[in-house]
Amino acid sequence: MKIRVAILISGGGSNMLKLLASMDADHPAEPCLVLSNKSGAGGLAKAAERGVATDFVDHKPYGEDRAAFEDALIAKLEAAKADVICLAGFMRVLTPHFINRFEGRMLNIHPSLLPKYKGLHTHARAIEAGDREAGCTVHVATAKLDDGPILAQARVPILEGDTPETLAARVLVQEHRIYPEALQSFTRTLAAKTEANT
Ligand code: GRF
Repeated sequence: MKIRVAILISGGGSNMLKLLASMDADHPAEPCLVLSNKSGAGGLAKAAERGVATDFVDHKPYGEDRAAFEDALIAKLEAAKADVICLAGFMRVLTPHFINRFEGRMLNIHPSLLPKYKGLHTHARAIEAGDREAGCTVHVATAKLDDGPILAQARVPILEGDTPETLAARVLVQEHRIYPEALQSFTRTLAAKTEANT
């Protein structure tokens, strides 16, 4: 049986599309759901076009009640029987309530060379700091934001005249490469462990 992967997005979902494309017949995992906090997220329509189940939970009606919003997400993920969660541009901070539910089985991609520049505006911060390189990181998501064991990293140069946008585009090319690679090796290890325990 394949490992079931749910992907959480908020936007266009270019990383999500690369993850979907990578899960071919030989892959240890298959997509079971693309879930968003925005009904209009461009990525939802693109996933649906590829025959993948999609859904959303709008965070706005929940206001400050993050636990209730997260319970609604968890209900959808449980209904989809998700084994592994990939955060791919999901722009809501998740609390330990959610993260502990999927402990050790949730991956995130972050557009910086962690542990540098957790949080937002990573490219602007790297340029402002005068860094000579930037990059991206795939890690296991833990209760601390943009923290947890690192699975893969890629570096790119910061070039003279770079803006946050030009740098983001250079980093995104690497995100599209390392996220599928990291998911494949993570799910391969998970499948081997599961087999050993049965
Ligand atoms: C990526 O840069 C990712 O690292 C960050 O949000 C962006 C999402 O882009 N967390 P996309 O929706 O995958 O195109």
